Amino acid sequence: MVAFVVAIDGPAASGKGTLARRLAERFGLAHLDTGKLYRATGFLVLEAGDDPADPVAATAAARRIDPARLANPGLLNEAVASASSIVAAIPAVREALLSFQRQFAANPPARSEATEPRGVEPRGAVLDGRDIGTAVCPDAAVKLFVTASPEARARRRLRELRERGATAIYGDVLQDMKERDARDSLRRVAPLAAAPDAVIIDTTLLDADQVFEQASEIIARALAARRQPSGEYP
Ligand code: C5P
Repeated sequence: MVAFVVAIDGPAASGKGTLARRLAERFGLAHLDTGKLYRATGFLVLEAGDDPADPVAATAAARRIDPARLANPGLLNEAVASASSIVAAIPAVREALLSFQRQFAANPPARSEATEPRGVEPRGAVLDGRDIGTAVCPDAAVKLFVTASPEARARRRLRELRERGATAIYGDVLQDMKERDARDSLRRVAPLAAAPDAVIIDTTLLDADQVFEQASEIIARALAARRQPSGEYP
């Protein structure tokens, strides 16, 4: 039995996280926000007073990651976001986090019912990140690459930060985002990139519901192609 995997990649604040969560709920799939693994690694390095660019400290931190660390609200702050993209460029960190992600995709935890009951649910997962379609799950049934202009993404991130009560300035948010984009896109190992067979969704001029409907159609088609005459999924 091969799990049904949806890979969603894209840059920061492209809307991929919210999209992944909603799709998982609609289709009764498990969800893993893989950015949390890198954020938790960056968090541990900063907490210990170490340098995120130090491969020994960062790799030791990556090896300590377990699911309990991923719910930490401290992972959402911008210092941790920057540190996460620094540790993410270290090959041994990526290696240490790979098996967790592949295990999750191959054996997704059971989910409750899909919000739209369609009879028998597929066993599967939605993973979102930077390299899911290219490196973590190259055989995913559906690959989406969600993107938007840096300015639109900076405006969204600014709104999120202010909603959380943080004080932030648009110019700084845009600058941090461009730096993180560059680090993520230019690193040697598993850079941010669309897989050749990914569907690219540019969300600059779309709202979250429009993106959700587009992506839902793609997934529904892939599921229909997989469904057996008995109505069950392999
Ligand atoms: O998605 P999020 O902003 O939480 O990701 C934080 C950082 O983790 C990214 O900037 C990127 O450097 C790294 N990351 C990665 N590969 C993934 C997911 C996240 O390198 N699959």
